[in-house]
Order: sequence, then structure tokens, then C-alpha cells
Amino acid sequence: MSDAVQTQSSNAAFTKRVFSGIQPSGDLHLGNYLGALKRFAGAQNQGIETVYCMVDQHAITVWQDPAELKRSTRELAAGFIASGIDPEKSILFNQSQVAEHAQLAWVFNCVARMGWMQRMTQWKDKAGKNSQNASLGLFAYPSLMAADILVYHATHVPVGEDQKQHLELTRDIAIKFNNDYGVEFFPVTEPVIEGAATRVMSLRDGTKKMSKSDPSDASRINMTDDADTIAKKIRKAKTDPEALPSEAKGLEERPDARNLVNIYAGLADMSVDEVLRDVGGKAFSEFKPMLADLAVAKLSPISTEMAHLMENQDEIDAILRKGADSARAIATPILEKTYDIIGMVR
Ligand code: TYM
Repeated sequence: MSDAVQTQSSNAAFTKRVFSGIQPSGDLHLGNYLGALKRFAGAQNQGIETVYCMVDQHAITVWQDPAELKRSTRELAAGFIASGIDPEKSILFNQSQVAEHAQLAWVFNCVARMGWMQRMTQWKDKAGKNSQNASLGLFAYPSLMAADILVYHATHVPVGEDQKQHLELTRDIAIKFNNDYGVEFFPVTEPVIEGAATRVMSLRDGTKKMSKSDPSDASRINMTDDADTIAKKIRKAKTDPEALPSEAKGLEERPDARNLVNIYAGLADMSVDEVLRDVGGKAFSEFKPMLADLAVAKLSPISTEMAHLMENQDEIDAILRKGADSARAIATPILEKTYDIIGMVR
């Protein structure tokens, strides 16, 4: 827990607003889809105000090839739209287009404490043994993430399990700012970590997270993989020799088996128990083709639509510019008020 004093318990004064972001670094994969993207459209379709962002400034905390960053950003935008984000209903844009994120991040750099950042497991994992050589941006990463969220006064943030600690830090920053200045200006954001697949694991090792940075492409299903590749990766996924259990309890010591069942549940919108009621007792030789068929049925329409959208990049850029204008309309007054609270002459 942080040094921040927990005083503010309710966000009653704030309108419900959802924010989330994804880094445009490398390919979008099944973990991003099930842990985050798939759930973004749900909030939008319930009529909640939704703000979604490609976080390119987070991406450059580690080296990105400039041409590849542009391509990945547009492809990620296509991924959002193909997964059901409607730019007429949600605000969709690229982080660096709205300068207020970086401006508020500077304020939060002065609120957050070094010790808070040092405790972040993602910092420890990414910086590794050679932390002296990591970028300053990588260290301050969670402060920019807090700014992404709080510059919209967002109350809810749908993410996968791996972002939980960063969201706790976002809450600590909001609470410390509010306490330091004697205001209730920033909401204490709720993480929304829901569903069967909040932590999708590597297909090669069920104890490791599925990740863009895994050197083995066979460890993940990319949203741009074709049907044959998806089927092949699932066929080769690591499993154990036993048949599937009929209750979730039976998966406890079986990380590879549990991962495949979680993926099935996430794709089918079922609970793990419901899946096991149907497939309990089956061997993997029978279950894997079922999973491959389901994955292809759910993911192929998305990858086809992404490829189609990528044929017209000007249109993607126009959508992002319009989204950025709408985002700025919310962020600018919140940043101005922040500056006023902290005593900056404007
Ligand atoms: P990023 O780009 O690594 O991942 C984007 C989203 O995908 C989720 N995710 C997963 N979910 C389940 N299983 C997995 N294996 C898996 N891998 C990734 C992540 O939890 C995330 O929801 N710091 C964030 C980006 C960010 C952000 C924000 C998120 C920047 N500002 C503000 C929310 C709000 C990140 O690196 O996510």
C-alpha cells in the first residue's frame, strides 16, 4: 500500500466515464483482445461515455522503429474499430494528439513518490537487471497512465489483470493530490477486471503471460493471424496428458489446461464451469479442434475487417483527428482547473 491516506471513498460526484488504452507496440494479441478490447464495446453499447486511446507515448518508453510505430498505431486503431468500437459513439484517438496527457503527467510526477514507482512489478520486469540503462520514461510510465485516466475524470477502467497495480497507483495519485490540495477534484478510479480471461497465458508455457514481447510467435495468437495459423498454434499449444476435469477445481494445478479452458470461456462468453460441464472428460485431442474452430469463428471476422480498414489509412487518420478534438474538449478544462488548484498563473 502507498503512503497516500485513504480518505475519499465515493465517486458519487463524478459522472460515469470509461477510459482505457492499449500500446501500439507490436501485434495486438488474444490477451489484449480477451483481457481488454472485447470488453470495450460492451461499455460503449450500454450508452456509457467511453474514451479509448492508442498510447504511443507509453510505447516509446522502450525503443520503437518510427515507421513501424506509425503502422502499429493505425493497425491498432483498425483493431479497435473491427472489435466493435464505433467512433461515432466512443472517443477514439492517439495519445500524443492530446498534449494534456503529458502535461498532467508532469504534475503527477511531482505528486507520485519514487518509492511508489520502484515497487511497480512491471518496472522491475521491464527494466530487469540493467535498470540504470532503462529510460526515465519507463520509470515514470505509471504517472502518465494516471494522467491518461484522470485528465478525463474517468471513473472506470477496463483492463487485464496485469494492469491492476498501475491502477492502484492511479488511485493513490488521485488521493494524494486531493489530500495535498484539500480538494475532491480527481475521482478514485475503479479498475474493471472481469471475465474468464483476464490473464491469458502463453500457449507454450501456462505460467507465463501471453505477451507481445515473447520472442516465440507460437506463444501467442495475433489478431492478424489467418485461420490456418490460429489452428496450428492451438494444435501445438502445450497441454498435459490428462483428460479435462468436469469442475474448475480440477484445473488448479494444471496451468496449461486451465489457460486453454479460460480462452475458450472468454471467446464463448461462458464461465469456466459452464465450459467444463460441456467438455469435462474429453481428451485434448478432441478439445483443441473445438477451441480452434471457436477461435477462428470469433477472430477471423476481426482480422478481415482490420485488413480492410488498413487499405484506407487516410480514413483512420481522420477518425483519430476527430476523436482527438473530442478528447481535448474534455481534457483542456480539467487540466486548466488542475493548474488553478496548484497555483499556476494562467
Ligand atoms: P498493454 O498495451 O500492455 O495491454 C493492453 C490491454 O491488454 C491487457 N492484456 C492482457 N489481458 C489478459 N491477458 C494478457 N495476457 C494480456 N496482455 C495484455 C492489458 O491488461 C491491457 O488492458 N499500461 C497499459 C496501457 C495504458 C492504459 C492506460 C490502460 C496506458 N494508459 C490507461 C488503461 C488506462 C498497457 O501497457 O497495456
